[in-house]
Amino acid sequence: MTKIHAKFDGLGKSLPAKILTNADLEKMVDTSDEWITTRTGVKERRILSPGESINDHCVIAAKEAIDKAQCNLDEIDLIINCTFTSDYVLPSGACIIQDKLGFTRDVPAFDLAAACSGFMYGVETANSFLATGNYRKVLVVGADALSPFTNWKDRTSCVLFGDGAGAAVLSGTTNPDEGVLASDLGAAGRHNKVLMIEGGSAAFHATELLKDPSLESKFYITMEGNALFKIVTRLVADSVKRAIEKAGLTPADIDFLVPHQANTRIIDFVAEKLGLPREKCAVTIQKYGNNSAASIPIALCDSLEEGRIKKGDKIVMTGFGGGLTYASLVVKWS
Ligand code: ACO
Repeated sequence: MTKIHAKFDGLGKSLPAKILTNADLEKMVDTSDEWITTRTGVKERRILSPGESINDHCVIAAKEAIDKAQCNLDEIDLIINCTFTSDYVLPSGACIIQDKLGFTRDVPAFDLAAACSGFMYGVETANSFLATGNYRKVLVVGADALSPFTNWKDRTSCVLFGDGAGAAVLSGTTNPDEGVLASDLGAAGRHNKVLMIEGGSAAFHATELLKDPSLESKFYITMEGNALFKIVTRLVADSVKRAIEKAGLTPADIDFLVPHQANTRIIDFVAEKLGLPREKCAVTIQKYGNNSAASIPIALCDSLEEGRIKKGDKIVMTGFGGGLTYASLVVKWS
């Protein structure tokens, strides 16, 4: 029997209108535009305004992806919302997206938490569902609202993050010359403490804060940035190598790189390993910062809009995030 695998039919994105620049941050913490730019590549990031919903951005991104895929809701049989910062702990963002998009069928919908690797995990999950032949199209959303979880007094992390949503409609194909050619997913759970949000969880309920306001910092992202940097560069480089090998290709065959937007130095390291110059690499961190699970679909979206990805191009997408999770996909664009 011919194997079914996923291909991308359409993409969409949505970002908050509010821009926070490095100059704004200079007024909030002891930092400088020069430090942030040279160490991270971020110049500005998009931030939700009070009362603005990340799930609404998911819906806008999903509508665009559905539009570009030229399909209707009746053809979508599954919704996967990749996030760890949905509007609510319960219900899932995926169920809210299903409702707001106006689905008339009770298609399965769930959130998938793999932090910044979320969208990659989501695409691979969609790939597996599509391979069963029981699902025609899958909507995969990658979205995160990191600004509510950012400690705006911590200069070592607050300069990095932003908010946003990206989405893709995937369908099954039996053509081995298009779509997802290979994947490499992993989790180095031994490093689970380098990036955490402890508060607001089952282990550390929000009411603890009422008892002891000095615990406030636990409700924000804590990150061992330097350790993370060293660990992920190796993990990501190895993951990309394995995915390319699984696709039966070599780095020289790769036309374009869409990496997670965490730090330009990490992006440059991976691009160099592939022998790709900057112009063959999606870099959006300067305008959006690191918006976690949204960063890869948004970077993919921008690269397509700019005409930087052509039909037939072999693309590597690679991400890493808290957990630590990491994931790489090799895709032939069709
Ligand atoms: N402005 C000015 N100085 C700063 C700032 C800042 N914003 N932040 C840190 N510094 C200082 C430090 O205090 C330190 O000073 P010291 O030498 O006097 O002690 C100095 O700059 C160097 O600090 P390092 O932590 O060694 O800086 P580094 O070059 O490692 O850069 C960074 C820090 C940008 C966080 C980097 O380690 C990094 O990008 N790590 C990976 C982070 C990441 O990918 N996170 C997200 C992954 S998962 C997800 O996406 C949710």
